[in-house]
Amino acid sequence: MSFFEKILSINRFFLKSLPYLNQYISKYKGAYLIGFLFILLKNILIIIPIPYIGKAINEIENALNHPENNQEDFFQNILLYGSIIIFAPIFSGIFQFLMRQSIVVASRKIEFDLKNEIFKHYESLPQSFYKKNKTGDLISRISEDVGQSRMYLGPGIMYTMNLFSIIILVTYQMISINPEMSLYVLIPLPILSLLIFLISKTINIRSKLVQQQLAAISSFVQDSFSGIRVIKSYHTEEKIIKDYTLETKKYKNRSISMAAINAFFFPMIILIIGFSYLFILYVGGKKYALGEINDIGTIAQFFMYTSLLIWPFTVTGWVTSVIQRAEAAQKRINDFLQTDPQIQNHNPNPSKIEGTIEFKNVSFTYDNTGIQALKGISFKINKGQTLAILGKTGSGKTTIAELITRMYDIQSGSIEIDGEDIKKINLNDLRNSIGYVPQEAYLFSDSIKNNIGFGLNQSELTDEKIVNATKKAVIHDNIIHFQDGYDTILGERGVTLSGGQKQRISIARALIKTPKIYIFDDSLSAVDTETEEKILQNLTDSTQNTTTIIITHRISSAKNADYIIVLNDGKIIENGTHNALTSKQGYYNSLFLQQLST
Ligand SMILES: Nc1ncnc2c1ncn2[C@@H]1O[C@H](COP(=O)(O)OP(=O)(O)O)[C@@H](O)[C@H]1O
Ligand SMILES: [Mg+2]
Repeated sequence: MSFFEKILSINRFFLKSLPYLNQYISKYKGAYLIGFLFILLKNILIIIPIPYIGKAINEIENALNHPENNQEDFFQNILLYGSIIIFAPIFSGIFQFLMRQSIVVASRKIEFDLKNEIFKHYESLPQSFYKKNKTGDLISRISEDVGQSRMYLGPGIMYTMNLFSIIILVTYQMISINPEMSLYVLIPLPILSLLIFLISKTINIRSKLVQQQLAAISSFVQDSFSGIRVIKSYHTEEKIIKDYTLETKKYKNRSISMAAINAFFFPMIILIIGFSYLFILYVGGKKYALGEINDIGTIAQFFMYTSLLIWPFTVTGWVTSVIQRAEAAQKRINDFLQTDPQIQNHNPNPSKIEGTIEFKNVSFTYDNTGIQALKGISFKINKGQTLAILGKTGSGKTTIAELITRMYDIQSGSIEIDGEDIKKINLNDLRNSIGYVPQEAYLFSDSIKNNIGFGLNQSELTDEKIVNATKKAVIHDNIIHFQDGYDTILGERGVTLSGGQKQRISIARALIKTPKIYIFDDSLSAVDTETEEKILQNLTDSTQNTTTIIITHRISSAKNADYIIVLNDGKIIENGTHNALTSKQGYYNSLFLQQLST
């Protein structure tokens, strides 16, 4: 362990979560060490002129009292003292700039690293994690909590080092001039720190309440904008306005109570400083009168030393609360970073996937709700075949799709791809070889082109491939009629697509990947039957060698499949080909008859 690391490990005694950041501090230890050096130089240069101010005052006093003395010496001395008094602070200022440049810049770099580490971890976590945590919490961890930790890494560490170095330097100077007076000056300062700490704490509590209310207002506003159609059609504007006023009233009251405590802050500091000065004046004046101090310059020096200590002591109170907040924030970050990604790649070697899928007695329970979605499911489809899955909502169809993409791992039974356990297949290769069109077509706020090419590398993406895929998904003609064609931006500030258009773009996104396995989860539900027919025909033509799973409510989508399974309450209740199933008096047949008549 290097000396630097030994110093770092000291904070383990006081703090539990922040030492996690030691690895980062070590990474930028050059910047921190040089920053400490600048702090020291800055403080030395602040201290140097003070005795000269004292000397200059004594010199002037002397010259006034003894006009008969040599004027030349006087001017020479004043010029020398004056230069020191002017130039030392200038250089001190330069070092102060460099101190911030090194330490604050290092803290920004760590913030960058930390944000990336957290985001990378987010991406590795399974869907179940996102079901359990609120999006708002996840966002605040990567923005606000990281921000709090950065306050510790930058100003927190910087001001602490500053405090130590200036206290040591100033106290040493003061004691060497007059120990007793030093004591009087130093007594009120820790009280200043304590008060500032208590005020900062109250400010934090109140500012948190303000922040919470602000968040509540934002989500209220967001909700009312997104739902504006519903609000208008139900004619509930008045009520919404009233609710909004209530929320903003709360915000106003909290902000006022925050302003009250803030207003306390500076008068408090001035009061304590006033007391310190009063002490110096009283004690120093008395000593001068009694002849215990023989020049006024000493008293002037004490005034200046005190003023040097006030800011660092004020900041201590603030820094303590910064560290407390950072500790709490870092604890939340650490807890989250320790969350296991659960779904892990157990096979670093590439896996070649052909597309035969077999479920053997698979049961699966969602652990967040305890709902058993699948109960002893078994089926097999060979590569290149088409499987259709039918069943009521909630019967477990989507769950099967998510298990094949390994969004979850199963608790009993086994899933095999090409005869190999799914957990032993390279996870990236598995997901890369599946073109999954989820039930809820999600499109990013980006151009149509980028949405479709999402699964390909930029180098693989050509206009030809895109058009080819959109033609198969029967959406090309719609897109070229948009003003910006394939460059049309979707989402909030762009074009709003109909449900069926979204589904077809989502299908094109899967088709362009030319995967080994397709999964269409109810992907044609919002498409009219005529277009559905066309898309299905295109799919049959282009998926000859591709395993295809079609999850649907429509017999028309299922009837050409090689194999059909009907699910109910997590179990397979019927299975076979269209012909076999329509010759039985079951769920499939009744659905068939019902849909035939419409
Ligand atoms: N992420 C989830 N967490 C907890 N329960 C879920 C989740 N997804 C689905 N379920 C439950 O599992 C059952 C099967 O759901 P699903 O596979 O989506 O059915 P389907 O796609 O046939 O409508 C339902 O009871 C549903 O409430
Ligand atoms: Mg579903």
